[in-house]
Amino acid sequence: MTQEFKLDLPVRPRRLRRTPALRAMVEETVLRPADFIAPLFVIDGKGAPEPVASMPGVSRFNIADLVKECRALHKLGVQAVALFPKFDAKLKNAEGSRALDADGLILRAIRAVKRAVPGLVVMTDIALDPFTSHGHDGVLNAAGDDVENDRTVGILREMAVLHAQAGVDVVAPSDMMDGRIGAIREALDAAGLTGTGIMAYSAKFNSAYYGPFRDAVGSASAAGTRLLSKATYQLDPANRRESLVEATLDLAEGADIVMVKPAGPYLDIIREVRDATATPLAAYQVSGEYAQIHAAAKLGWLDYARCRHESLLAIKRAGADLILTYFAKEMAQLLRR
Ligand code: PBG
Repeated sequence: MTQEFKLDLPVRPRRLRRTPALRAMVEETVLRPADFIAPLFVIDGKGAPEPVASMPGVSRFNIADLVKECRALHKLGVQAVALFPKFDAKLKNAEGSRALDADGLILRAIRAVKRAVPGLVVMTDIALDPFTSHGHDGVLNAAGDDVENDRTVGILREMAVLHAQAGVDVVAPSDMMDGRIGAIREALDAAGLTGTGIMAYSAKFNSAYYGPFRDAVGSASAAGTRLLSKATYQLDPANRRESLVEATLDLAEGADIVMVKPAGPYLDIIREVRDATATPLAAYQVSGEYAQIHAAAKLGWLDYARCRHESLLAIKRAGADLILTYFAKEMAQLLRR
């Protein structure tokens, strides 16, 4: 027999966890469809959606299917999409010249989506990796051993202006070149596109969690190696303060929204940037974060729905206002009920 034992406790935090109603009343973080930005992959032609093997439930869409998907997302309360193109290897070259095509895939996709769903915020990726044969986010220097900063920024400026002229609401430079936010802002303003926003991938880490995305856009195999290193431009995962250096620069250069990426393994960085600025903060729950929840659930080792929800809650709780996530549609469906 255990002895009767009573604590004399005036404060018992469990009192507010006693019933579902009490728990709902003191819930501090609530997810809503408008928190999510849905990343979508676009392909040319009229083919059927192409599933991405390492990202269950994610497919690359032709423009007509993309439009349908955007309409469905908007109906569910998702307010923004982020578009990423995928090209055949034979259309790529070292300079990524397709990025500046006058009638390129992404420009046609922007126009089609804005025409069909004008109320939806369309964002596009500004970086050269879907277009370069080596898979880097920029063009290489003469020695071919590193990405050349300023020449890359010159190309990204032109790319951003093309996207803005096609009607994109927000351009999102993900390349991590120095000085690109200011250069792009200046180019947009000079072209009279003062209303086009910039969401800066400010603290984008050199992460292994991008693996499945590189399958999706075909930038991993482009170089003939899966070990493509972006260490000379993306942040070192060991660094925290450096994220503040980057975010501060991007804000001074005119970023409207700053971003931390990946999200789940970088919650401390999200909080750090949140505390340092009043500007809206986005976080990108990347392909690897999505894939690992799917993989573990498939093995029966994790509860899919609960982990999905908890992973997003944690990102918002850490301080993100907006979350780029491949769960956007499922979550919006769930939250609308
Ligand atoms: C590259 C880019 C990457 C992602 C978005 N834009 C990958 C990379 O830097 O190689 C990753 C997104 C994801 O993993 O979901 N411009």
